[in-house]
Amino acid sequence: MSERTVVVTGAAGFIGRWVVAELLDRGVTVRGLDDFSNGSRENVAAFEDDDRFSLAEGDVCDPEAVAAVFDDDVDACIHLAAEIDVQESLDAPMDHFEANVVGTQNVLEACRKRGTRLGLVGTCMVYDMLDAGEGIDEDHPVKPASPYAGSKLAGENMAESYYHGYDLPVTILRPFNTYGPYQKTGMAGGVVSIFVDRDLNDETLKIFGDGTQTRDLLYATDCARFIVDGTFSDDAVGEVVNAGTGEDISINDLADLVATDGTDVEHVEHHHPQSEVQRLRCDPSKAEELLGWTPEVSLEEGVDRLRAWMRERQR
Ligand SMILES: NC(=O)c1ccc[n+]([C@@H]2O[C@H](COP(=O)([O-])OP(=O)(O)OC[C@H]3O[C@@H](n4cnc5c(N)ncnc54)[C@H](O)[C@@H]3O)[C@@H](O)[C@H]2O)c1
Repeated sequence: MSERTVVVTGAAGFIGRWVVAELLDRGVTVRGLDDFSNGSRENVAAFEDDDRFSLAEGDVCDPEAVAAVFDDDVDACIHLAAEIDVQESLDAPMDHFEANVVGTQNVLEACRKRGTRLGLVGTCMVYDMLDAGEGIDEDHPVKPASPYAGSKLAGENMAESYYHGYDLPVTILRPFNTYGPYQKTGMAGGVVSIFVDRDLNDETLKIFGDGTQTRDLLYATDCARFIVDGTFSDDAVGEVVNAGTGEDISINDLADLVATDGTDVEHVEHHHPQSEVQRLRCDPSKAEELLGWTPEVSLEEGVDRLRAWMRERQR
């Protein structure tokens, strides 16, 4: 894969920085684009000295900022830039519409102008809950229950229309809930990162609702490998592909796994029960069949790695 050049939107975000790491590791030149609304230069500081990495500040809602990172040297684009917070999407739906729908449309137009291959990163949050069967496959019904999910699905629909309408090589990649180092630990963070951070600080782990809701938790490096493999696979063009571990864990059990001696766990009122997806477990068999991708990091191992990383940072 060396000698290739890839545009990564949202490169300074949590998953973005892992995707950048994976690409650089494979010898790919990376042009990042980020408006730093939720990412930071610190997230990608490790790559600063790498000549193959550059990062432009820009908003995907601005077509010129998007066009500026594309030229004929670009072999593919991985589109991650998005507003990601479910509660914020309920509070300010226009912001999510702008970033996730208009922003995606601008990326699609930049790709269409040059026939650039696109790996569009969607999300498992578009699916209806699993109430029967072993896992959520790509044919599982969708049910966008928040403007976050709705805007992500709308972006996917536009991307699918560019595949059918213009033969643009697009792959829609839907990772399940992802966790690991560099994820935020505040409200807009992920549940694993929030719990581990609170445990390390001897703070109570707060569970929204009754804690029976489940998640299929994917470690950041597994997610990044999936996104890069999916983007470059000819077999996956025009496809939707899920990635997860194939196991789900309730938030109650996750709290038990993370909490060390002396850490309390309490249930608090859910901010948005109507937008919660009660059960999320991935069926990752299509990713294995098409890409040969399987997850490598177990939840226990991932939590240990995250804890070690956070401890190191606290020093
Ligand atoms: N974290 C997860 O569990 C998860 C799971 C599945 C899919 N995803 C998807 O992966 C992508 C990345 O998520 P993340 O968790 O790394 O979030 P993140 O917020 O850490 O990363 C998103 C990045 O995009 C940037 N950004 C936001 N709006 C922008 C705009 N208008 N223009 C340019 N840059 C902008 C942010 O500054 C940030 O650096 C999103 O598309 C999200 O929907 C995330």
